[in-house]
Amino acid sequence: MYSANERVILALDVSSKQEALKVVKGLLPELRFVKVGMELFFSVGPDLIHHLKDLGLKIFIDLKVHDIPNTAYNAVRSLNGLGCDIINVHCAGGLTMMKRAREAISEDTKLIGVTQLTSTDQSMLNTELGIAGSVTDSVLNLARLAKEAGLHGVVCSPQEVELLKAELGKEFLAVTPGVRPLGEDTQDQKRVMTPKKAIQAGSDYLVIGRPILKSDNPLRAFRDIVAQIQEVDSGE
Ligand code: C5P
Repeated sequence: MYSANERVILALDVSSKQEALKVVKGLLPELRFVKVGMELFFSVGPDLIHHLKDLGLKIFIDLKVHDIPNTAYNAVRSLNGLGCDIINVHCAGGLTMMKRAREAISEDTKLIGVTQLTSTDQSMLNTELGIAGSVTDSVLNLARLAKEAGLHGVVCSPQEVELLKAELGKEFLAVTPGVRPLGEDTQDQKRVMTPKKAIQAGSDYLVIGRPILKSDNPLRAFRDIVAQIQEVDSGE
């Protein structure tokens, strides 16, 4: 497995290149993996990806592609050309869309599927989205489809990881946002867990934004999270 540092993916949820580089430089060389999402990519564009790669960082480009199969294929092919480590699509786009997107991925890149957002809870799933059953059932159903389509893993809440791994196997990646160190504000996240519990449950990567970005001391916040992962790795 990767080192504890490499299992923390920092969500670079800021809107300018300057801010992104300031955060990143404050955490280097310990920071190994960053996530560039819509806020940053839509305002800065691909240029930043090259810059982050030059700093030796691994990159998860989180644009959650969700469209008809042909458009999704072309979108993922464009993203794949940036040389990122992880790209994602929404599982809700369906099996054919995911299969087509998978065809656009080169060997060194992983394609993962977003199941249910970690801001979705039971009542929102049933009443707003009109999906019956539990959040866990829906996540597992979408994850099964992702696996059938040949994706490398999924994005889900740490609360679903144990069941996911039991059913779909240890190799099927679980990338989990919704991680909150003890005592943190959960903000808009509903299905949350601490870093230690998420790793114990089997998460491969923790995606963490505000608990680091909004901290008075981001480096200390990052190190505390890494320390929780190391505790699990050393069997504490
Ligand atoms: O600040 P916070 O730690 O909540 O950031 C979590 C990040 O993970 C955000 O960038 C959010 O877009 C992303 N994400 C998520 N839930 C998903 C997929 C991605 O929170 N299912």
